[in-house]
Amino acid sequence: MTAVISNWSHDNQERAKRIIASYPEKRSALMPLLYIASLEHAYVSDDAMREVAELTGITPVQVQSVASFYTMFKRGGVGDYLVSVCTSISCYLGGADDVLAAVESSIGDVAGEAAAERPITVEHVECIGACGGAPAVQVNYELIEGVTPEKAVALIKWLTATRPEVILTDEMQQLFGGRRSFEWGSTDSEGAVRPIPAFGPYGSVGGGSVGGGSAGR
Ligand code: FES
Repeated sequence: MTAVISNWSHDNQERAKRIIASYPEKRSALMPLLYIASLEHAYVSDDAMREVAELTGITPVQVQSVASFYTMFKRGGVGDYLVSVCTSISCYLGGADDVLAAVESSIGDVAGEAAAERPITVEHVECIGACGGAPAVQVNYELIEGVTPEKAVALIKWLTATRPEVILTDEMQQLFGGRRSFEWGSTDSEGAVRPIPAFGPYGSVGGGSVGGGSAGR
Protein backbone atom coordinates (compact mmCIF):
# COMPACT_ATOMS: atom_id res chain seq x y z
CA MET A 1 0.00 0.00 0.00
CA THR A 2 1.26 3.47 -0.88
CA ALA A 3 2.17 5.72 2.04
CA VAL A 4 0.62 9.18 2.08
CA ILE A 5 1.35 12.32 4.05
CA SER A 6 -1.81 13.01 6.00
CA ASN A 7 -1.20 16.73 6.41
CA TRP A 8 -1.02 17.28 2.66
CA SER A 9 -4.11 18.49 0.85
CA HIS A 10 -6.38 15.76 -0.47
CA ASP A 11 -5.56 16.70 -4.08
CA ASN A 12 -1.85 16.51 -3.44
CA GLN A 13 -2.14 13.21 -1.60
CA GLU A 14 -3.97 11.76 -4.58
CA ARG A 15 -1.42 13.22 -6.98
CA ALA A 16 1.43 11.77 -4.91
CA LYS A 17 -0.19 8.34 -4.95
CA ARG A 18 -0.60 8.44 -8.73
CA ILE A 19 2.98 9.57 -9.25
CA ILE A 20 4.45 6.89 -6.99
CA ALA A 21 2.34 4.21 -8.67
CA SER A 22 3.63 5.23 -12.08
CA TYR A 23 7.20 4.18 -11.30
CA PRO A 24 8.58 0.66 -10.76
CA GLU A 25 10.66 2.04 -7.86
CA LYS A 26 9.21 4.56 -5.37
CA ARG A 27 12.48 6.47 -5.21
CA SER A 28 12.10 7.37 -8.88
CA ALA A 29 9.23 9.66 -7.85
CA LEU A 30 11.60 11.85 -5.83
CA MET A 31 11.63 14.91 -8.09
CA PRO A 32 7.88 15.33 -8.65
CA LEU A 33 7.21 14.60 -4.98
CA LEU A 34 9.68 17.29 -3.96
CA TYR A 35 7.79 19.65 -6.18
CA ILE A 36 4.46 18.80 -4.58
CA ALA A 37 5.99 18.99 -1.10
CA SER A 38 7.30 22.44 -1.91
CA LEU A 39 3.76 23.49 -2.81
CA GLU A 40 2.50 22.29 0.54
CA HIS A 41 5.14 24.20 2.47
CA ALA A 42 5.72 27.10 0.03
CA TYR A 43 9.31 25.84 -0.30
CA VAL A 44 11.30 22.67 0.31
CA SER A 45 11.41 22.82 4.09
CA ASP A 46 13.06 20.27 6.35
CA ASP A 47 9.58 18.85 7.00
CA ALA A 48 9.01 18.56 3.26
CA MET A 49 12.22 16.57 2.83
CA ARG A 50 11.30 14.25 5.70
CA GLU A 51 7.87 13.68 4.13
CA VAL A 52 9.33 12.91 0.73
CA ALA A 53 11.84 10.55 2.34
CA GLU A 54 8.96 8.72 4.00
CA LEU A 55 7.10 8.42 0.71
CA THR A 56 10.06 7.25 -1.33
CA GLY A 57 11.74 5.01 1.22
CA ILE A 58 15.08 6.81 1.12
CA THR A 59 16.75 8.87 3.83
CA PRO A 60 16.12 12.60 4.41
CA VAL A 61 19.81 13.22 3.72
CA GLN A 62 19.49 11.61 0.30
CA VAL A 63 16.44 13.77 -0.38
CA GLN A 64 18.35 16.86 0.69
CA SER A 65 21.25 16.03 -1.60
CA VAL A 66 18.89 16.07 -4.57
CA ALA A 67 16.83 19.08 -3.46
CA SER A 68 19.91 21.21 -2.85
CA PHE A 69 21.27 20.48 -6.35
CA TYR A 70 18.35 22.07 -8.20
CA THR A 71 17.93 25.81 -7.73
CA MET A 72 14.24 25.70 -8.68
CA PHE A 73 13.60 23.85 -5.43
CA LYS A 74 13.66 26.76 -2.98
CA ARG A 75 14.99 26.26 0.55
CA GLY A 76 13.32 29.35 1.94
CA GLY A 77 10.29 31.56 1.39
CA VAL A 78 10.03 33.40 -1.91
CA GLY A 79 8.26 36.70 -2.51
CA ASP A 80 5.66 37.31 -5.17
CA TYR A 81 8.41 38.27 -7.58
CA LEU A 82 11.49 36.11 -7.88
CA VAL A 83 14.31 37.89 -9.73
CA SER A 84 16.95 35.41 -10.89
CA VAL A 85 20.22 36.88 -12.13
CA CYS A 86 22.44 34.53 -14.11
CA THR A 87 26.06 34.79 -13.00
CA SER A 88 27.56 31.99 -15.09
CA ILE A 89 30.44 32.64 -17.43
CA SER A 90 28.82 34.44 -20.39
CA CYS A 91 26.71 36.64 -18.14
CA TYR A 92 29.62 37.16 -15.78
CA LEU A 93 31.75 38.42 -18.66
CA GLY A 94 28.89 40.71 -19.66
CA GLY A 95 28.69 42.31 -16.22
CA ALA A 96 26.26 40.07 -14.34
CA ASP A 97 27.88 40.84 -11.00
CA ASP A 98 27.07 44.52 -11.48
CA VAL A 99 23.51 43.62 -12.49
CA LEU A 100 23.13 41.48 -9.38
CA ALA A 101 24.55 44.21 -7.15
CA ALA A 102 22.19 46.74 -8.72
CA VAL A 103 19.18 44.49 -8.12
CA GLU A 104 20.15 43.84 -4.51
CA SER A 105 20.78 47.46 -3.77
CA SER A 106 17.60 48.54 -5.52
CA ILE A 107 15.50 46.09 -3.51
CA GLY A 108 17.00 47.64 -0.37
CA ASP A 109 16.07 51.10 -1.65
CA VAL A 110 12.44 50.21 -2.30
CA ALA A 111 12.01 48.19 0.89
CA GLY A 112 9.01 49.55 2.73
CA GLU A 113 5.31 49.16 2.96
CA ALA A 114 4.66 48.89 -0.77
CA ALA A 115 7.46 46.39 -1.32
CA ALA A 116 6.50 44.33 1.73
CA GLU A 117 3.00 43.72 0.36
CA ARG A 118 4.38 41.87 -2.61
CA PRO A 119 8.00 41.28 -1.72
CA ILE A 120 10.75 40.73 -4.22
CA THR A 121 13.27 37.94 -3.76
CA VAL A 122 16.58 37.98 -5.60
CA GLU A 123 18.84 35.03 -6.28
CA HIS A 124 21.81 34.32 -8.49
CA VAL A 125 21.52 31.27 -10.69
CA GLU A 126 23.63 29.19 -13.01
CA CYS A 127 23.26 29.39 -16.81
CA ILE A 128 19.64 29.75 -17.88
CA GLY A 129 20.33 29.01 -21.53
CA ALA A 130 20.32 32.57 -22.84
CA CYS A 131 24.09 33.04 -23.11
CA GLY A 132 23.81 34.83 -26.47
CA GLY A 133 21.76 37.54 -24.77
CA ALA A 134 23.93 37.89 -21.68
CA PRO A 135 23.52 39.27 -19.09
CA ALA A 136 20.23 37.43 -18.62
CA VAL A 137 17.69 37.87 -15.86
CA GLN A 138 14.40 36.16 -15.13
CA VAL A 139 11.37 37.37 -13.19
CA ASN A 140 9.23 34.45 -12.08
CA TYR A 141 11.15 32.44 -14.68
CA GLU A 142 10.19 34.81 -17.51
CA LEU A 143 13.32 35.84 -19.40
CA ILE A 144 14.89 39.24 -20.10
CA GLU A 145 18.12 39.44 -22.10
CA GLY A 146 20.77 42.14 -22.38
CA VAL A 147 20.09 43.65 -18.96
CA THR A 148 22.29 46.49 -17.72
CA PRO A 149 22.61 47.59 -14.08
CA GLU A 150 20.57 50.71 -14.89
CA LYS A 151 17.82 48.64 -16.50
CA ALA A 152 17.88 46.25 -13.55
CA VAL A 153 17.22 49.14 -11.17
CA ALA A 154 14.37 50.30 -13.40
CA LEU A 155 12.96 46.76 -13.40
CA ILE A 156 12.84 46.62 -9.60
CA LYS A 157 11.20 50.05 -9.42
CA TRP A 158 8.66 48.96 -12.02
CA LEU A 159 7.81 45.75 -10.17
CA THR A 160 7.37 47.68 -6.94
CA ALA A 161 5.28 50.44 -8.48
CA THR A 162 3.06 48.44 -10.83
CA ARG A 163 2.91 45.07 -9.03
CA PRO A 164 1.90 43.21 -12.20
CA GLU A 165 -0.40 40.25 -11.72
CA VAL A 166 1.07 38.48 -14.74
CA ILE A 167 4.71 38.65 -15.70
CA LEU A 168 5.16 38.85 -19.47
CA THR A 169 8.57 38.28 -20.96
CA ASP A 170 7.89 40.36 -24.09
CA GLU A 171 6.80 43.34 -22.04
CA MET A 172 9.85 43.13 -19.78
CA GLN A 173 12.21 42.62 -22.70
CA GLN A 174 10.85 45.73 -24.35
CA LEU A 175 11.08 47.82 -21.19
CA PHE A 176 14.28 46.54 -19.61
CA GLY A 177 16.10 44.31 -22.09
CA GLY A 178 18.82 44.88 -24.65
CA ARG A 179 20.55 42.60 -27.10
CA ARG A 180 18.79 39.28 -27.49
CA SER A 181 20.24 35.87 -28.29
CA PHE A 182 17.96 35.49 -31.31
CA GLU A 183 14.79 36.89 -32.78
CA TRP A 184 12.08 35.44 -30.63
CA GLY A 185 9.37 35.71 -33.31
CA SER A 186 5.74 35.85 -32.29
CA THR A 187 4.92 37.36 -28.94
CA ASP A 188 3.60 35.31 -26.06
CA SER A 189 0.34 36.46 -24.52
CA GLU A 190 0.70 34.13 -21.56
CA GLY A 191 3.05 34.58 -18.66
CA ALA A 192 3.83 33.73 -15.08
CA VAL A 193 1.41 34.54 -12.28
CA ARG A 194 3.78 33.76 -9.43
CA PRO A 195 7.19 32.22 -8.87
CA ILE A 196 5.80 28.94 -7.53
CA PRO A 197 4.51 26.79 -9.23
CA ALA A 198 7.34 27.44 -11.59
CA PHE A 199 6.65 25.35 -14.61
CA GLY A 200 3.83 23.58 -16.44
CA PRO A 201 1.71 21.66 -16.23
CA TYR A 202 1.53 22.58 -12.56
CA GLY A 203 1.46 26.33 -12.89
CA SER A 204 1.71 29.49 -14.95
CA VAL A 205 -1.07 31.04 -16.93
CA GLY A 206 -2.82 28.51 -19.10
CA GLY A 207 -1.56 25.53 -17.10
CA GLY A 208 -3.38 23.55 -14.45
CA SER A 209 -2.74 24.25 -10.81
CA VAL A 210 -1.88 21.77 -8.13
CA GLY A 211 -3.35 24.06 -5.47
CA GLY A 212 -4.34 22.97 -2.02
CA GLY A 213 -1.00 23.74 -0.38
CA SER A 214 0.11 26.91 1.29
CA ALA A 215 1.63 28.12 -1.98
CA GLY A 216 -1.31 27.06 -4.08
CA ARG A 217 -2.93 30.45 -3.81
S1 FES B 1 25.75 32.12 -18.86
FE1 FES B 1 24.00 33.32 -18.36
S2 FES B 1 22.48 32.49 -19.64
FE2 FES B 1 24.18 31.21 -20.03
